[in-house]
Amino acid sequence: MANVRFENITIKYGNHCVLKDFSLVVDSGQIMCLVGPSGCGKTTLVRALLGLNKPETGSIYVGDRCLYDAKKRVNVAAEKRNIGIVFQDYAVWPHMTVIENVSYPLKKQRRPKDEIKRRAMHALEQVHMVEYANHLPSQLSGGQQQRVAIARALVTDSDVVVMDEPITNLDAKLREEMLLEIRMIQKRLGATILYITHDQQSALQLCDKMAIMQQDGSLCQYGTDEDIIMRPANRFTFEFIGVSNFIPIVREGKELCLDCGEKIPYTANLPADCEGKEMGVRLNDVVFDRDSVLKAEVTSRIFLGSEYNYFLKLGGREIRVQQSMLDARTFGTVAEGEKVGIRFLNPHFYDRKEAAQ
Ligand SMILES: Nc1ncnc2c1ncn2[C@@H]1O[C@H](COP(=O)(O)OP(=O)(O)OP(=O)(O)O)[C@@H](O)[C@H]1O
Ligand SMILES: [Mg+2]
Repeated sequence: MANVRFENITIKYGNHCVLKDFSLVVDSGQIMCLVGPSGCGKTTLVRALLGLNKPETGSIYVGDRCLYDAKKRVNVAAEKRNIGIVFQDYAVWPHMTVIENVSYPLKKQRRPKDEIKRRAMHALEQVHMVEYANHLPSQLSGGQQQRVAIARALVTDSDVVVMDEPITNLDAKLREEMLLEIRMIQKRLGATILYITHDQQSALQLCDKMAIMQQDGSLCQYGTDEDIIMRPANRFTFEFIGVSNFIPIVREGKELCLDCGEKIPYTANLPADCEGKEMGVRLNDVVFDRDSVLKAEVTSRIFLGSEYNYFLKLGGREIRVQQSMLDARTFGTVAEGEKVGIRFLNPHFYDRKEAAQ
């Protein structure tokens, strides 16, 4: 297994520059999730790695091996790049049995028959699909089909496996199971995986490292999931990862206030330089506290199985809150129509100008 390095990649479609001077490293033996809104250029980058499009500038390395270099005119053919792929719309071939599907990449490499059988069965073992070897895809569930696709991606001992939205078509429960499977397979094999998604939740569950792309194709943050949640580089990352409340901060005389229709003094809890900014607080960072000066009214409470979601009214502004079961048991829940004290943990402050972008 090896790392993957994209260096200064520029890709245009006609006049439309999708990626400009884009650089990214996927560490060896890790899962890197590349997350970004629809249309930002994720698949375009994957296609460059696979050799399906040709960047105007830059280079792509897998370990020491140069796959592409615009200056040096290196462009290794797609079939020689040794990269496993699992695509959402590149599922298993319907007319081949499971074992035929998984054997196919090895057949193309003209490996001896007994080696093909041994390696294909081994790949099926990895995804727990041995007993389905002679089934046709139509006899499998969506999740089982995706497991076959993963086995096929792993069978050639690829240096790197790319998964581009591999589980988007599955239902919620299967998605959850597949994420666990992918994680377990990756740990077993120590594979380097570049996992592409616009779903930040699955990225958080899966990744060692995460890279966040913005709509314009630029990279706005790279780090561990903890970095990205606890220390978002900018408002885009903060908003992209999870739902948040935003409250403008204004000054009234000497007091810094939360602008909630009425101005609620809150100076003691705010940094001195936040006037004119907007305070962002995640839903699970709004906590109930009977002693707090801020009193809000519960307008709606929804039980979601493993947490409560609240809509509160603070002055004239709606505040959303996520209460964990632990907190619901220790603090208690609050009924609709009741007033409750609230506090904001881990507030982030952003310019309001940014909000308009
Ligand atoms: N073959 C093409 N010709 C012209 N424009 C293209 C082509 N492929 C993609 N694009 C454009 O390039 C941009 C990036 O597309 P890309 O498929 O890389 O996005 P993505 O990040 O993978 O989005 P999604 O999350 O929806 O899959 C989009 O604006 C898209 O319309
Ligand atoms: Mg895509």
